[in-house]
Amino acid sequence: MRTDRRPDKMKLGTLFHPTGNHVASWMHPDSQIDAGTNFRHYVQIAQTAERGKFDVVFLADALAVRDGKPEALSRWPQYMAYFEPITLLSAIAPMTTHLGLAATATTSYNEPYNVARKFASLDHISGGRAGWNVVTSSNYSEAYNFGREGHFEHGERYDRAAEFTEVVQGLWDSWDDDAFVRDRKSGRYWIPDKLHTLNHKGEHFSVRGPLNVARPPQGHPVIFQAGSSEAGKELAARFAEAVFTPQHTLAAAQAFYRDLKGRMPRFGRSPDHLKVLPGLNTIVGRTEAEAQEKHRFLQSLIHPAVGLEVLSNAIGGFDLSGYDLDGPLPEAAYLGKPNSGSTTSFANVLSWARNENLTIRQLYQRFAGARGQRTLIGTPEQIVDDMQAWFDGYGVDGFLFHASHLPGGLDDFVELIVPELQARGLFRTEYEGTTLRENLGLPRPVSRYAGRL
Ligand SMILES: Cc1cc2nc3c(=O)[nH]c(=O)nc-3n(C[C@H](O)[C@H](O)[C@H](O)COP(=O)(O)O)c2cc1C
Repeated sequence: MRTDRRPDKMKLGTLFHPTGNHVASWMHPDSQIDAGTNFRHYVQIAQTAERGKFDVVFLADALAVRDGKPEALSRWPQYMAYFEPITLLSAIAPMTTHLGLAATATTSYNEPYNVARKFASLDHISGGRAGWNVVTSSNYSEAYNFGREGHFEHGERYDRAAEFTEVVQGLWDSWDDDAFVRDRKSGRYWIPDKLHTLNHKGEHFSVRGPLNVARPPQGHPVIFQAGSSEAGKELAARFAEAVFTPQHTLAAAQAFYRDLKGRMPRFGRSPDHLKVLPGLNTIVGRTEAEAQEKHRFLQSLIHPAVGLEVLSNAIGGFDLSGYDLDGPLPEAAYLGKPNSGSTTSFANVLSWARNENLTIRQLYQRFAGARGQRTLIGTPEQIVDDMQAWFDGYGVDGFLFHASHLPGGLDDFVELIVPELQARGLFRTEYEGTTLRENLGLPRPVSRYAGRL
């Protein structure tokens, strides 16, 4: 009998890359081949996630297709053609009842008023299940679609993101919760004293307000964040209520967890009001041999052109074409610089190559398959042992599950792993509430105007 069990339960999110997280997922017979623009597919996987009692589904996004070599991109369709996420989540909302619905909207190529309005609308449409993943864009392809020759540099991106988020939250408070009386008898629809005009004038934005949507059911949709740099962690400590982060060892996860939560009191926030959810990719089988075989099969689907493209992106764009796939990484590759935003992958990949003497092929197999996510391969018991150690060890508050392929990988997780988590009392058997905040155990924010005369 364990005595060091945590009193709370694990939180689970799942990221829906269209056909799955694995770089060759679209080649797998258990994936939906036209997933990116197949609405029925999304309804099916959202309903599966809800059956598995997931807290939230998360849709990543970028405002551009990937740039790269057509030879590789034409064999790697992920994020070349897919739905705009708020539109998609609004359509999934009435097909689900409890599942949280979160999506990325970049602070680099949006205006706060538009973002505040869209997520407030989604929160109303879904009955309080919306979440916004605040990102700063670090990819040139997006800049070119918004009248810029390059993206904002790192510090400026994050300053802009902080001001952006402040304005969005201010706009969500435009109306008091009880502003709309809709009283036919007195002939008054809303109470003038309960409407607030933001009048924001800052370095990056001037926004008068108020917002043309009533205060969201959750007060504010839940704020997610996924940057791990110093500036990223400061932004998270100030605003985020759930954080995605790639973590590969328990010690590193614990250090990240302590670091992030330790920053929150400086912003007047309680560390309980932020859930750390590192990425997790699982390949589960009824036996270990079955799981290993599933993994081997997925890895065998990676085309070398795609493997090289993903690997090259991770090591600062160093062109690996022409090198022997079964030879070592060329020395010159170690001298490169990380692409903006990929410092961690850069360091990981180069240290694997050097310390484990991996060939280029072995390296792309290791990195490209799960695209840098921590991968657990095994039986439900083995996988849950590991998840439990990370949870009880306060390295995480839960996980963001990346299915290797969809729907097959999610079906496996819900059928095999969720029951094991539940049997050990680590995860809910029923939703605690109806809003995303209630399920994540987060308080509903009080309006900044509450109590003012
Ligand atoms: C799980 C996860 C999901 C992410 N989703 C997005 C996304 O949808 N769009 C995006 O532009 N960046 C996304 N990112 C990238 C981060 O938001 C961030 O830009 C990146 O980690 C670099 O930030 P940093 O310099 O603070 O580390 C994601 C990162 C992680 C770990």
